[in-house]
Amino acid sequence: MGTLPKLHFLLPILTLLLFSMAQLEPVVTQRLYADSRWIVDGAGRRVKLTCVNWPAHLQPVLAEGLSKLSANAIARMIREMGFNCVRLTWPLELPMNETLASLTVTKSFQNLGLLESLAGIESNNPSLINLPVMEAYKFVMTSLRNNEVMVILDNHITTPGWCCSGEDGNGFFGDKYFNPQVWMQGLHKMATIATSFSNVIGMSLRNELRGPRQNVDDWYRFMQQGAETVHAANPNVLVILSGLHYDKDLSFLQNRPVSLSFTGKLVFEMHWYGFTNGEAWQSGKPNDVCGSVSNDLMSQSVFLLGQGHPLFVSEFGVDERGTNVNDDRYLNCFMAMAAEYDWDFALWALQGSYYLRQGVVGMEEFYGLFNYDWSGVRNSSYLRRLSVLQLPFQGPGGLPTVAHKVIFHPLTGLCILRRPRSRLVLGPCAYSELWSLTPQNALWLMGTHLYLRATELGRRARLCTSLTEPGTEWEMISASKMHLSSKDKDGNTVCLDVNPRNTLVVEACKCLSSDSSCDPASQWFRLVDRTRL
Ligand SMILES: *[C@@H]1O[C@H](CO)[C@@H](O)[C@H](O)[C@H]1NC(C)=O
Ligand SMILES: *[C@@H]1O[C@H](CO)[C@@H](O)[C@H](O)[C@H]1NC(C)=O
Repeated sequence: MGTLPKLHFLLPILTLLLFSMAQLEPVVTQRLYADSRWIVDGAGRRVKLTCVNWPAHLQPVLAEGLSKLSANAIARMIREMGFNCVRLTWPLELPMNETLASLTVTKSFQNLGLLESLAGIESNNPSLINLPVMEAYKFVMTSLRNNEVMVILDNHITTPGWCCSGEDGNGFFGDKYFNPQVWMQGLHKMATIATSFSNVIGMSLRNELRGPRQNVDDWYRFMQQGAETVHAANPNVLVILSGLHYDKDLSFLQNRPVSLSFTGKLVFEMHWYGFTNGEAWQSGKPNDVCGSVSNDLMSQSVFLLGQGHPLFVSEFGVDERGTNVNDDRYLNCFMAMAAEYDWDFALWALQGSYYLRQGVVGMEEFYGLFNYDWSGVRNSSYLRRLSVLQLPFQGPGGLPTVAHKVIFHPLTGLCILRRPRSRLVLGPCAYSELWSLTPQNALWLMGTHLYLRATELGRRARLCTSLTEPGTEWEMISASKMHLSSKDKDGNTVCLDVNPRNTLVVEACKCLSSDSSCDPASQWFRLVDRTRL
C-alpha cells in the first residue's frame, strides 16, 4: 500500500482512531436499535452490520465447513476478515420437526451418504457428532459468541435444501410448504432460543418471498404478525423484513407503512446480485445499465433510507474468479451505491464449498470467501476491495468531523489521496483528505488553497491554487453519472482516469457512445459523503 502521506502528522490521529475503534468494537452482550436509518447501540452510536451469510439450511442441517475447520476457527476467521456479524440461515423444520431436530449430526450425514464429510467433522469438531442438529446449531451460535460475532437468524426456507425457485412450494404464505401458522410457531421457538444468546441481535423473518401467490395484502398481514410473534418471544432482537420478488421489491412501503406495537427495531432487507437483472450487465452498456438499475433500486428499496428505516442488503456477491463479465460490471456499480448509501450488509457467502448442494457432493461456491477446502481466502484482492465498506462513512459515533466528501473509485475500492509533491494517487479511503464540492463545481481540498485540476490529455491530474485555471470545473457525466469530467486547457472534454500505477491521469472519456463491449470502470468515481473518521 506504500507510504502514507505526512505520516508524522497522521500518527497521533491514527492512534486515537485505533483506540476509539477498539472502544467501538461491538459489545455482543448488548442489544441494538433502529434509530432513523441507522442501527445503533444502547449509547446511540452506530454499529454498521458488516455480515457474511453462513448457510445451515441445506439438507444436512449443519452450518457448512465444519468438516474442514473447527467452528471456533471459522468464527475467528470471520473476525479476521473484517466482518462483525453472520446471517446464519435455518430451515423452518429445524424448530418445527422434532424428528429432524433430534437427528444426530452423525445420523443426518449417514442418511445422506456423506461419510467423508462426517469423518471431517469428527476430526475438526469431535464434540458435534453425537449432538442433535438443533444442538449443533446452538454450538455454532456459541462459537460465534465466543469470538464476538453478532448473529442474525434467517429463516431461509421450510424444508432443508437449496433455495430458491418460484415453484418450490416455499415461496409465499399459503404455499405447499409455507403454512403461516407453522412459520409463526417456528419464529417463536427460534426467538425464544435466541434469548440465551446475547450475540443474536436480529431475526430475518423469511428469505426471498416469491412465486405466484405473492401479494401485498398478505405481506402486511403475515409480516406484521410474524414481527409481533418474534417481539413477544424476544424483545431484544431487531426484526428484519424481506420484500417480494426474491427480496427485490419493497416499493409498496412508499405509501403504506408497516404497523407494529413496538418501535426502534424495524429493519428492511433487500437482495441485489448481478443476475437480478439477468444478463443486462453483459449485454448492455455499463453506464446505461448502472444508471437505470440504480434508479430502479431507489424506487424499489433504497428510498427506505430516506424514510428513516435501516436497509440491510442481506445478499450480494460475485463469482470471485473475475471471469463473469456480468458479475464484474455489476460489482463496480454495487460498490458505488454501497459506499454512497453506507448501508448495512451481508455478503453471499462464507462457504468455499458445500457438504451437499442440489445433489452434488462437495459443490464449490465461487462466490465464497473461503477457498474450496476452507484452507484460506479464495481471493484476497476481492476481500481487500470490500474492506472499504466495513467501516462506516456516516452515522452517529466515531470521531466526528466536518461533513466532507471522499472521491471513491469503485473498481479498486480506493479513494483519491494526495502524496508528497501533490501527486494524486488511489489509496485506502480511511486516509483520504477532506474534499468539498464548491458552488462553482470545483473539488476543493478543504483547509487548503488547492483544487483538483485536469491539466491536459495524457498527463497526470494535478492540484492547483487558482480557480481561473482551466480544468477546475467538474461535472459527473454519462448515464451512470460516474465519469468525473472537465475541460482541459485546449477546451477538450476529458475524464479523470487511473493508470496501472494507481496515479490519477487525464484521459479521453471512455465508452460514452460506444458499444456494450466497452467497460468504463477505470473512469468511474463517486463523491461519497463522510461525516466521521
Ligand atoms: C421431519 O423430518 C424427517 C427427517 O428429515 C422427515 O423424514 C419427515 O418427512 C419430516 N416431517 C415433516 C412433516 O416434514
Ligand atoms: C481475484 O479477483 C480478481 C478481480 O476480479 C481477478 O482478476 C483475479 O483473477 C481473482 N483471483 C483469483 C485467485 O481468483
